[in-house]
Order: sequence, then C-alpha cells, then structure tokens
Amino acid sequence: MDSTIKFWAVVPAAGVGKRMNADRPKQYLPLADKTVIEHTLLRLLSAEVFTAVAVAISIEDPYWPELAVATHPRIITAAGGKERADSVLSALHAISGAAADDDWVLVHDAARPCLTAADIHLLIDTLKDDAVGGILALSSHDTLKNVQGHSILGTLDRSHIWRALTPQMFRYGVLKTALATAQGNLAITDEASALELQGLQPKIVEGRPDNIKITRPEDLALAQFYLGQQHD
Ligand code: CTP
Ligand code: MG
Repeated sequence: MDSTIKFWAVVPAAGVGKRMNADRPKQYLPLADKTVIEHTLLRLLSAEVFTAVAVAISIEDPYWPELAVATHPRIITAAGGKERADSVLSALHAISGAAADDDWVLVHDAARPCLTAADIHLLIDTLKDDAVGGILALSSHDTLKNVQGHSILGTLDRSHIWRALTPQMFRYGVLKTALATAQGNLAITDEASALELQGLQPKIVEGRPDNIKITRPEDLALAQFYLGQQHD
C-alpha cells in the first residue's frame, strides 16, 4: 500500500433517535461512565490510525458543545443533514481540503459505542489493498422469512444474507461521488448501498457481534454489558 495514503473517520451523529423515545438524541444518553458518543469517538481516536475524525452534528444540537471531546485536536465538526447520507456527505466536505481521493474513509455510526480496536484493524488490514473497500457485517443466526402482511411467502437462503454494520471503509473520492450521485434517494441507508448503485461490489468482513447499534431502550443495557466484558 502507498504509505502516503491517510485514513479518516467519519461519524454521523445528527440523528434524533426517534425509536429510542428518550428526552434527548440517543448519542447523548449516559452509558456507564460517559455518553454514548464519547465512547464511540474515544474508541476511534485511541485506535491511532485516523488523521482526524469528522463528526456530523445537528445545527440545533445543544449537547455537543458541552462535551470535552468536542475540542479534541483531531475532531472536526460538520453540520448534519436531513438523512444519514446527507450528514456523511457534509462531513466528507468538511475534510475536502486535507483528504485526497485515494485516502480511505471509515464511516462509523455514533450510535455504535462498543466498536473494538480489533474490528477497526481487522477491517483496515483486510481491505487496505482492495480496489473498492467494504464493510463489517454479521451473518444471521435466525431463519429469515419473506413476508407480505402476516403471511410467509418463502424462506430466504441465509448463506447469502448478511447484516450491514459499521465501520464502512471506502476511498474518499469514490464515496463522495457515490453519495452525491445518490442524494435524495431514501433507499441509501448505508455507504455500501451508494457504491452498489454505482455498479461496484463492496466486500464484507465478518465483524464482532458486540458492535451493536443503540436503537431501542433495551439496547443501552446490552451495550453496558458488552463494555464491561471488553474490559476483562
Ligand atoms: N444520523 C445522522 N443524520 C441523520 C440521521 C441519522 O447523522 N439525519 C446518524 C445517527 O445520529 C446515528 C447513525 O446516523 O449515529 C445511525 O442512524 P440511526 O441509528 O437511525 O439513528 P437515528 O436516526 O438518530 O435514530 P431513529 O432512526 O430511531 O430516529
Ligand atoms: Mg434513523
């Protein structure tokens, strides 16, 4: 690999956390000794591979400026957008002066605070010489049904189905073009889908099951359990 290639992290953190149904966006809820987003950002910063971490924050967000990590020298803030993809694109624009088209970007949800250094390095080591890049993913343990209404139409071949996690790792230039081209397309719920729309085939790298996304209230207790396990 060309040693001048840099690695950047991009963290979309401009969601409202509707499904969490809390008094504030879920990334600011307490989890063990910190807020969710502090866990996420400190894990990325301490991996010591990223030139900077660009975080997309809602312009109406009163919680972000209160956090010590907001003034960390390797944190860059960008304005969040309407959809997750808009927030990611905004963060990519925020590093446009410093990032080269061939640099790698790892996009990681603010709402995944249990990401391990092991998974970051596994993704990078597996894909750093790949033409396209790819994502952490998990296979499904459950049998999966294709359903209409409440009726089962069939059973999916589980061997072909993977659950997309983050980080998702792509080249800066390709990712920016893919997201800009797909702007307004609500089917683009992760970075990989924007590249798929360009006819590219991102790879999957099997990640750890403790890299959960905080989505519903019960996920906080599970995240706390995993964080405790990881310190052992
Ligand atoms: N996100 C963002 N900008 C948006 C929407 C989401 O940066 N316009 C971020 C969220 O902050 C989160 C990540 O994208 O870190 C994954 O999204 P999700 O889990 O769906 O979070 P929310 O959209 O906040 O939650 P909900 O869908 O329940 O409202
Ligand atoms: Mg959402």
